[in-house]
Amino acid sequence: MVDLTTTYLGLKLNNPLVASPSPLSEKVENVKRLEDAGVAAVVLYSLFEEQIIHESLELDHFLNRGTETYAEALTYFPNIGKFSLAPEKYLETLEKTKKAVTIPVMGSLNGVSSGGWIEYARKIQDAGADALELNTYYLPNDLNLTSNELEDNYVRLISDIKSSINIPLAVKLAPYFTALPNFAKRLVEAGANGLVLFNRFYQPDFDLENLEVVPNLVLSSSDELRLPLRWIAILYGKVKTDFALTSGVHTSEDVLKAVMAGANIAMTTSALLKRGMSVIPQILGGVEAWMVEHEYESITQMRGSMSQGAVAEPAAFERANYMKVLNSFDLESV
Ligand SMILES: Cc1cc2nc3c(=O)[nH]c(=O)nc-3n(C[C@H](O)[C@H](O)[C@H](O)COP(=O)(O)O)c2cc1C
Repeated sequence: MVDLTTTYLGLKLNNPLVASPSPLSEKVENVKRLEDAGVAAVVLYSLFEEQIIHESLELDHFLNRGTETYAEALTYFPNIGKFSLAPEKYLETLEKTKKAVTIPVMGSLNGVSSGGWIEYARKIQDAGADALELNTYYLPNDLNLTSNELEDNYVRLISDIKSSINIPLAVKLAPYFTALPNFAKRLVEAGANGLVLFNRFYQPDFDLENLEVVPNLVLSSSDELRLPLRWIAILYGKVKTDFALTSGVHTSEDVLKAVMAGANIAMTTSALLKRGMSVIPQILGGVEAWMVEHEYESITQMRGSMSQGAVAEPAAFERANYMKVLNSFDLESV
């Protein structure tokens, strides 16, 4: 028997597969089905800052910084009419979900400013969440906002939220930071108990007929695993925190790679949306079979075994690899 258990944010989990936020967790019965299929924990869909305070002055200041784009930006939020109800409904769903399942349930807040909305961190805690995940999706488009200022804003937000709760806090990040290792270290110093790498950006597309900018949500594939894989492998052992890998987890191989890079857990959404919940036992069965075949006893034994600090060729994660990859391209094979 192999030991699939792992820990994440101080929680003991039956295995390393966790359902990341998605519309699936809007319904309690779906979370129950996820539990029955075998996921070790669930992060609920996000409650957005914009849902909590529609016209927060602090958010306004943060987003606008002298421009008039805030009102326009809000029109991109499809549920704006339901805003006043959403936060209460969120807490209610969380409470009901906690009662319906035995696996850990984490709440998710999505926001950027250090405003009054963060009181919902405590409300999520009081509704029974085992941990809180903060998704900090922010797209800087202001020529006068420096990377230092932007990072300071994140750090302030983490420490504000952390000081208002007792449950563990994970921070879900985008991959686009100039000096990720230093930033990751700062976030952990500010109180993040775990880093969730990486948030997936949904790039807008153009509708050429109507000359409109349109949302374009494409589900991921395993190819997208390599970006978080590389960064978790680099950060593991250097930044003392837990890591959750998100983006591109579709197969048992993806989960094994995530753990070997150094992740405590691998999160999945697109695989569930594409292939349904039967994918969960398939992935977990595959992980177990692979570990038996390769004589691994536990997930803990495997964790970080392919991290930058553990591999024979650490440069494979760095610039040297860039030249090697380009040189390995064979024009004849195209
Ligand atoms: C339809 C949909 C809704 C999502 N909603 C949320 C959300 O509310 N909060 C959040 O942090 N991530 C959300 N995500 C992102 C996923 O949790 C996940 O991080 C991302 O899809 C990458 O993982 P994957 O490759 O397994 O899909 C959503 C993704 C999809 C496809």
